[in-house]
Amino acid sequence: MTDYETIRVGRTGRVGMITLDRPDALNALNAQLMSEVVAAVEDFEKDRSIGAILLTGSERAFAAGADIKEMQSKSFMDMYLDDWFSAWDRLAAARKPIVAAVAGYALGGGCELAMMCDVLIAADSAKFGQPEIKLGVLPGIGGSQRLTRAVGKAKAMDLCLTGRTMDAQEAERAGLVSRVVPAIDLIDDAIATASRIADMSLPIAMMVKESVNRAFESTLTEGVRFERRVFHSAFATQDQKEGMAAFTEKRDPNFGHH
Ligand code: HXC
Repeated sequence: MTDYETIRVGRTGRVGMITLDRPDALNALNAQLMSEVVAAVEDFEKDRSIGAILLTGSERAFAAGADIKEMQSKSFMDMYLDDWFSAWDRLAAARKPIVAAVAGYALGGGCELAMMCDVLIAADSAKFGQPEIKLGVLPGIGGSQRLTRAVGKAKAMDLCLTGRTMDAQEAERAGLVSRVVPAIDLIDDAIATASRIADMSLPIAMMVKESVNRAFESTLTEGVRFERRVFHSAFATQDQKEGMAAFTEKRDPNFGHH
């Protein structure tokens, strides 16, 4: 496996694991970390024995945002010509399900990164926020859009305009996170969740992700039409035959032949 400096990469069964690893900077997302995460995700995307990806940070911080020290002296032209942060779009475009396990700070780009994932499990220690306004900037990796879609205008405006943080319980009430678990159980719970997804049919899990995401990109009529077409195509898979046979034969399905 490739040597990375800002992340640790491993696997547990069919789950590919990526751990953000810049402890001295609370996992601040610098350019190197961004390209390493994207490369690791793209490797897992190509590997058919991986069914889901787990992305996590440390107990203290999932990620405390984009790297402020790296950005500090940049000009508009640097940002514009380099299209700063655009590589993160490749993570958002991943087709396999990504579970985010968030403990501690998920601020700014850290919150935005978590929101690019599909199932967001929060430790009770998690703190979410878009504090960019306090730095004289605004969210730049989709925060103003994904947060608003996740929690609605009222809370998104509140968080983005005041820069305050919200704790895990508030994030769960607001619909930002899938579930809150005790910090000590976070990784086990996230691995169990990612493994459960990874044991499903890979193409069907990818179709589910694509269909749910379509809800954010289309009208209801278009979205339902898209879902119907994808649903029909599930019947071209072996996994549909296996899943339904397993049900009628009262046994567990054995997916994987697609
Ligand atoms: C670079 C960071 C950092 C960051 C923390 N550090 N966050 N370095 N970029 N985003 C570094 C600190 O400078 C410090 O390094 C070390 O990590 C530990 O942080 P402390 O501040 O000493 O820890 P603590 O007092 O516990 O406070 C934790 C914190 C605070 C509340 C999370 O670090 C903080 O407010 N960080 C910035 C959060 C933020 O504004 N995020 C949004 C970034 S902008 P040293 O070397 O001093 O020990 C963003 C924009 C996205 O994400 C797109 C638009 C541009």
